[in-house]
Amino acid sequence: MFKITVAGTGYVGLVAGVCFAEVGHQVTCVDIDENKVDLMKSGISPIYEAGLEELMQKNYAEGRINYTTDYQSAYRDADAIFIGVGTPEQPDGSANLSYIATVARQIAESLEKDCLVVVKSTVPIGTNDKVEQFIRDFLVNDVNVEVASNPEFLAQGSAVHNTLHAERIIIGTESKWAQEMLTQIYEPFNLPIVSVNRRSAEMIKYASNDFLALKISYMNDIANLCELVGADIQDVARGMSFDDRIGSKFLNAGIGYGGSCFPKDTKALEYIARQQGYELKTVKAAIEVNKEQKTILYKKASKRLITFNGLKVAVLGLTFKPGTDDLREAASLENIPLLLEQGADVYAYDPVGAENFAKAYPDGKNRKGSITYVNDIEKALEGANVCFIFTEWGEVKALSPLIYKNLMRTPLVYDGRNIYNVAQMQEAGVEYHSVGRKP
Ligand code: UGA
Repeated sequence: MFKITVAGTGYVGLVAGVCFAEVGHQVTCVDIDENKVDLMKSGISPIYEAGLEELMQKNYAEGRINYTTDYQSAYRDADAIFIGVGTPEQPDGSANLSYIATVARQIAESLEKDCLVVVKSTVPIGTNDKVEQFIRDFLVNDVNVEVASNPEFLAQGSAVHNTLHAERIIIGTESKWAQEMLTQIYEPFNLPIVSVNRRSAEMIKYASNDFLALKISYMNDIANLCELVGADIQDVARGMSFDDRIGSKFLNAGIGYGGSCFPKDTKALEYIARQQGYELKTVKAAIEVNKEQKTILYKKASKRLITFNGLKVAVLGLTFKPGTDDLREAASLENIPLLLEQGADVYAYDPVGAENFAKAYPDGKNRKGSITYVNDIEKALEGANVCFIFTEWGEVKALSPLIYKNLMRTPLVYDGRNIYNVAQMQEAGVEYHSVGRKP
């Protein structure tokens, strides 16, 4: 078993740290935020993720995981240091590597023994080479450091499960020593390991995410055409899915992909290609389709209603997908400001995302319209003139079409996640608009 330190306690770092402890390694998680560290020590996760707190509490009680702000003592004698800090998007689409650089410098100044530094964060191709050189340039002690790439493939909402039961572990190394050590670290997980060089590992991460983004944008593009020619995208997807080469996952049309990964990683790869003088046409198209898709239902509703001024608008779902409180690149963040600017009175329901929305959009109350956060769906729907569904939360999916008919002033529903049966909504007397299906 190894002594592992994890830098950064976001979705990637914290989940990795907890799962390493769960399989028996000795783990220290480092974060600069003291409040966050105290919270984690008391068994509370700073992020909402199924099963995470239970594993944090169990492994902390059994002495396999600890949390600290003292990076020096955490890095000093670690066998391996995993970097899981953010690489947010910059205005030009490139990835901001300043958090990685800060951690790399701290590692260089702390190390007192040989160490394998493993980059988990999604980074542009070639970054691992630079991080290795950077650390070596700043080393204080005479130790050997190598950097390995080990991209993360977890999805928010199922992060713990995805890590413990990952479909593959990608290991990108430049030496036998690094490859063997990383393989040994992952041995207790008993998962398929794909061993490649560092640049290929970095590319595998972008190529995978961008392929999935492309798949979604392709289905959205086809969905928009389905509406025009009278086909039904769900039937089309079902028919396509029987082909193993296509597969049945990620074929759901809707109001586009959000989250912290697909939007950022498509733009980053497109930027990387541009820097090389190459036009990545397919990824560019995925980005373009997604941009348009986000407000497609708002535009449809604007035509139907003429104005939102003075209307009660129910919004069901704020987060970028169910099972998370994350709002990054969520459709709600694009659509609600538009509604408020038009003078709508928005009543927003989300089981976990309202607080984050209020933080992300603090001036919501100063717009022409108003925003009220409600704890139950019925309060949002009561007397509403129109309803938008942005996230397919289970409790929203479970609603009977009659709820819309009975509670709303006018039962007019724009569903960005295609969660209801069109015929059943019509039978219940709801005017139902979705994506890629006949109204
Ligand atoms: C995504 C990838 O699925 C993970 O494999 C990857 O590790 C992660 O990014 C990352 O790079 O860290 P995540 O962003 O958590 O994970 O969420 P997804 O479940 O992939 O959903 C992303 C967005 O696509 C959501 O807004 C979702 O609503 C949308 N989506 C997904 C669709 O519109 N249609 C689909 O068929 C599937």
